[in-house]
Amino acid sequence: MSLFVWKPEYSVNDAELDRHHQELFSVLNSVYENVMSTTDLDCILPKIDQLSEYTKYHFSAEELYMSEAGFQGIDDHIARHMEFTHTIETLRASYHDNDLEVAREVIIVLGEWLLKHVLKEDMKYSGLSHDVQE
Ligand SMILES: [Fe+2]
Ligand SMILES: [Fe+2]
Repeated sequence: MSLFVWKPEYSVNDAELDRHHQELFSVLNSVYENVMSTTDLDCILPKIDQLSEYTKYHFSAEELYMSEAGFQGIDDHIARHMEFTHTIETLRASYHDNDLEVAREVIIVLGEWLLKHVLKEDMKYSGLSHDVQE
């Protein structure tokens, strides 16, 4: 069963950015599934790299979109993106420490962060607002 699933109600009213979010959820799921089903951290590193690269790609695209739309909250939003990028680096560090338990915890934190971020922060530039369950 997938842990992180994108739903139509997560839409930010932009087809390309919605596709990015779907892909991010899907990459996170595959990292999670790898981490849960293996005791060998070697097969996880390429997945972490994929997550890291796709995240950078999405954040750049989203920041450009917000900038072009003249979105007021862009500075705060970029700072939040940097936090997430930093957490991915923590995940990479846990890989280097060969600590599977930490890797599992970090992935769950990343998934929860992403879901909350899309629903609460990304929604602000979409012109829609959703209630986020804490
Ligand atoms: Fe986003
Ligand atoms: Fe964002």
